[in-house]
Amino acid sequence: MKIEQKKAALAALTISTMFMLLILANVMVTATQGNKDIAWATHIKQSPYEGIEIKTRIADEKRYRLAVHYPVFLKQELNEEIETYITEKEMSFIEKAKTEKGIWKNHPDSFSISFQLVQAGDELYSILFETETYTSSGEHQTSYDTMMADTAAGLFLNGHDLFIDPRKAASAFERLAEEEGLPVPARFEGNERDFFYIGENEVVFLAENNKKENVHLPLRKVSPYLKKEWRDRLAVNNAPLKTAVKKPPKTDKLQGGKSKKAALTFDDGPNPESTGAILTILKKYKAKATFFVLGSRVEFYPELVEQIVQEGHQVGNHTWSHKDLTKLPPGEITKEIDLTAAAVEAAAGVSPVAVRPPYGATNKQVNDLLGIEPVLWTIDTMDWKSHDPKAISGIVKKEAKDGAIILMHDIHHTTVLALEELIVSLQKEGYELVTVDDL
Ligand code: NI
Repeated sequence: MKIEQKKAALAALTISTMFMLLILANVMVTATQGNKDIAWATHIKQSPYEGIEIKTRIADEKRYRLAVHYPVFLKQELNEEIETYITEKEMSFIEKAKTEKGIWKNHPDSFSISFQLVQAGDELYSILFETETYTSSGEHQTSYDTMMADTAAGLFLNGHDLFIDPRKAASAFERLAEEEGLPVPARFEGNERDFFYIGENEVVFLAENNKKENVHLPLRKVSPYLKKEWRDRLAVNNAPLKTAVKKPPKTDKLQGGKSKKAALTFDDGPNPESTGAILTILKKYKAKATFFVLGSRVEFYPELVEQIVQEGHQVGNHTWSHKDLTKLPPGEITKEIDLTAAAVEAAAGVSPVAVRPPYGATNKQVNDLLGIEPVLWTIDTMDWKSHDPKAISGIVKKEAKDGAIILMHDIHHTTVLALEELIVSLQKEGYELVTVDDL
């Protein structure tokens, strides 16, 4: 290449670079200043929640009409993200409105954003944005987005912030939805941007393309998959008592609340031989159960714990090393519980919220440290003592009544042998076999 050619090429490059920079600068001005050409009428009013205002912007232009409503928080970081979201939506609408040649040329296109705000917990707010557009070509579109604001930290949260293991939670929710006969919450996959929000006593997963109905799962079902901080912060607004009054579980509705329920519980596992065999039998008879696991066992068989959870059973905490908690100092009690919880969370992405102290031994100190009522039992099968399948199922048949909690151990071969007959006879008597939480 000759010198002259090089110079010319360089000049061309410089000019094209400058041109690109100009375009870029222009775009940036538009982006940062919002839609400055539009004459907005702005209005601010107080929301029902302290520290949150509602901002309304309305514009009536010749080609289009806009009306947007959105919440304004005390934290500027939150407001900036919402403004960016709103501005992006407006700009893409305006671009479309400008280029479209509709059938009613004199009829302006219209665009609106509205929202629902729910206080999900302590300084935690869920926002459901609804964007509606009508274009002059007669097209009507509605779309939804969700945001969850931690107003204490000034952050928006996603699945990664809220859930112990969003991927494992996602597959558990999928199964939960299927069992309830609901469409699968396809838009929750534990990604950075997840289309769900926490409402009052429920978690709502948005349906894809707004074609299907949204999936509502009761918060109490979703809650064990949340990190402890969020379980605690949500508990403020979502007391379990309120759940019982407001929304009876679906199964009760279907069966008129008349079905008898019993909870099979298995302690001291997981065990590589018997736990797997028990899961196979439970699956065969569509029975659900609760496994009170030992942390020291979970460490060796995490895949069994994950299988328990993924097949719809509940995992409870049976301490790390099966010591009598009433004989331990407070620090040791907490350690026994917390280490086990951490092992289960790592294995299955769920927290073993229910606790059964070894030997059922508890006192005020233990209960205070647990912070919840421990789960004991109403029927002791004595399976650890008799090792006799006939005797085990005989005790259950004799003592079964509605609300029974049946104590067994998934570490004995003879318990596995008793299980099938035991389940068949309970189901014949009209019992639904559920987890302790569903009792
Ligand atoms: Ni035990």
